Amino acid sequence: MLLLAIESSCDETAAAVVRDGRQVLSNIISSQVDLHAVYGGVVPELASRRHLEVINPLVAEALSTAGVKAEELEGIVVTRGPGLVGALLVGVSFAKAYAYALGIPFLGVHHIEGHILAVQLEQEVQYPFLAVAVSGGHTHLYRVDAIGKYKLLGRTVDDAAGEAFDKVAKMMGLAYPGGPIIDKLAASGDDGGIVFPRPMLKKQNCDFSFSGVKTAVLNYLQKLDSKPDEKQIRQIATAFQTAVVDVITQKALRAAEMEGLQRVVVVGGVACNSGLRKKFAELSLVNNLSVYFPSPLLCADNSAMLAVAGDHYLSQGFTSQLELNAVSNWPLDQIHYG
Ligand code: KG4
Ligand code: ZN
Repeated sequence: MLLLAIESSCDETAAAVVRDGRQVLSNIISSQVDLHAVYGGVVPELASRRHLEVINPLVAEALSTAGVKAEELEGIVVTRGPGLVGALLVGVSFAKAYAYALGIPFLGVHHIEGHILAVQLEQEVQYPFLAVAVSGGHTHLYRVDAIGKYKLLGRTVDDAAGEAFDKVAKMMGLAYPGGPIIDKLAASGDDGGIVFPRPMLKKQNCDFSFSGVKTAVLNYLQKLDSKPDEKQIRQIATAFQTAVVDVITQKALRAAEMEGLQRVVVVGGVACNSGLRKKFAELSLVNNLSVYFPSPLLCADNSAMLAVAGDHYLSQGFTSQLELNAVSNWPLDQIHYG
């Protein structure tokens, strides 16, 4: 099917045209980072308004880049949730109106399902696999047996990994979003001997906690005599990232072992992190695992990622009705479409 895919769950408006859930003809992303940076985080009302302003021209750009006319589209897939409800509603309402006007079906899908399946746009990963979904709102481990079959193995009990990166960056006076900045600062590998705790590693489950390591950074900063200089910021960032990467990779290994899975797929914005990629690559050799990462553009929020699920379900006749509502909180293991 030739699909238009739309994403507006947080602070990125995205539109893509994808053929047969595999061939990405366009994947356009309009980031709102500049809008929210002064507030140090996403302001929901501002996000909704910006989505509304850009969605029409963005879809036009996605179609023209793909060289596709609206009348050629065979379906629309959109993020229904989870996310900021006002932001989601812009994409969902647009998808309904556009599908209705064109007389084609549409389907509202799960944002994290999109992230997990993004990997299939670039490489064919066999099922079953362990999905490590690490983003600004999620740090979840799933066993994936097929499209639509997701079993939750573990999750964060407090902050998501990306949220912890952003909050720690803010504590150090760094810009928003802090994840990519900490990643760059940590590239030197110099942690100055600082060691932050690895919360929950001793617990024999697959859950995560990041608030302890965040508080440890805050305590460290408060004990300093003066504002940290550039070198100290680099060292704190390195020590923090190392702790987070250790926790994510160790818990993922435990989940893979418990479930007897040989393939691991790491997705979401935090999957762009170079320390995480490096550590997973090292561990894959020692533990005889195949680890897959989508390319950075497909790790962070985008809409092409929705087309794998969209094509699968729409081809089978699953569609959403015009009454469909956006949902801010929607557990992935409770989805059912149509
Ligand atoms: O998946 P995503 O784009 O949006 C959500 O669905 O949340 O993830 C955004 C999160 C932000 O918290 C951002 O700081 C983090 O991903 N992130 C990173 C990196 N790039 C983005 N965290 C660590 N290292 C990075 N290179
Ligand atoms: Zn996301």
